[in-house]
Amino acid sequence: MVKNIAVIRGDGIGPEIVEQALNVLNKVAELYGHTFQYTDVDMGGCAIDKYGDPLPEAELQKCVNSDSVLLGAVGGEKWNDVPGHMRPEKGLLRLRAGMGVYSNNRPAKIWKQLSDATPLKKSIVDQGNDIIIVRELIGGIYFGEHKTEGDIAIDVLKYSESEIERIGRIGFETARKRNKKLCSVEKSNVLDSSRLWKKVMHHLAEEYPDVELSDMLVDNCAMQIVKNPAQFDVVVTENMFGDILSDEASMITGSIGMIPSSSLGSTTCGLYEPIHGSAPDIAGKDVANPIGTILSAAMMLRFSFDMSKEADAIENAVSAYLDADYRTADIMSEGKRLVGCRKCGELIISNLRKE
Ligand code: IPM
Ligand code: MG
Repeated sequence: MVKNIAVIRGDGIGPEIVEQALNVLNKVAELYGHTFQYTDVDMGGCAIDKYGDPLPEAELQKCVNSDSVLLGAVGGEKWNDVPGHMRPEKGLLRLRAGMGVYSNNRPAKIWKQLSDATPLKKSIVDQGNDIIIVRELIGGIYFGEHKTEGDIAIDVLKYSESEIERIGRIGFETARKRNKKLCSVEKSNVLDSSRLWKKVMHHLAEEYPDVELSDMLVDNCAMQIVKNPAQFDVVVTENMFGDILSDEASMITGSIGMIPSSSLGSTTCGLYEPIHGSAPDIAGKDVANPIGTILSAAMMLRFSFDMSKEADAIENAVSAYLDADYRTADIMSEGKRLVGCRKCGELIISNLRKE
C-alpha cells in the first residue's frame, strides 16, 4: 500500500523522537512491501519563527490532505511571551480542530517489564492495569472564548448535546470491544456542562445495554486512578479533564514517555502523537524516550491504515526491547541498560519481524 503521511517534527525533543518513529515506519514498509511518503509540515514554535504563525493555512491543508499525521511535540520557553492566540500550542489546537479529530484515545497500560519503574505500589501494579481514556478533543474550555479585560480573565466552557453524544458513542463502542465497562467522568455537582454530559451519557446507555455505565466526579477519579486503577476499563471525559487525567494515568506505566495517542474524527485521516510535551530541557541531548511516538506510529497503522499485523509487529518489537532490559533515562532503574533516544530506536528496529 502507498500512504501519504504528514510529518510534524515540532519543537524541543520533537525532531529526535519523530526521527526514530520514521525509521521504524521505514523498516515496516520494507518488511511488508508498503510505501510511506512523508510530507514535512511546520507547526508550533518553529512555524512562529519561520512564518510568524504557529500553523499557517497551507501547512494545515497538507495535514488535511494526507492519509494521516504523525506529530512529535510543540512548544517551549522561547515562545512563552507570545500572545495566547499565537502560542505554539494554539497551532496544535487549530490542527486538531481543522482536522475535525474530536476523539482522542489515550491508553495507559502497564508493561510488565516496567513494574519497577512506576511510582505506584507493587500490589497496585500487579493487578495488570489497562485503561483507555477517551478524551473529547475539539470542544470545551479549550475552544470557548478566551479574553482578558483589565484584571479579569475569562475562558468559556461550553458543550452541546451533539458534541457530547458523538464522543459518548466512541466511549461506548470502545468499551464494547473491551471489557464492556465505561466510566463517564464529569463534575456534575458543580458544572452545567457536566450535568448535560451525564444526561447525554445515560440517554446513550439505552442503546448499549451490554456496556455497564458508571459515573464518577473528576476529583474522585483523580484519586481512584492511583488508589485502584484496575477498576477502570474505558474512561470517557471532556477535553480538559481528559488532559489532566491522562497525564496522571500515564504514571501507571512508569513514564509519560511511553504513552501514544490517536485522534480521529469522521474519516480515517487521524492525528497520532505521544501525549507528552516538547521537554526543551532535554532537547538535542539524545536522551528522550521515543517509544510514545513509535507506538503512536503503530496506532496510525492500526486505526487509519488497517494494518494491524504491522502494528502488532511494532508493539512486539518494543516489548522485546524492554525484555532485553534496555531503558531510556525516564524509565531507568537499577540493573537495567541505559540507552539514548537513537539507540532505543535502533534496538527496536533490530527486533522488528514480519508477524
Ligand atoms: C496534550 C497537551 C496539549 C493539550 C497542549 C500541548 C496544548 O497537553 O496533548 O495533552 O493540552 O491538549
Ligand atoms: Mg496534556
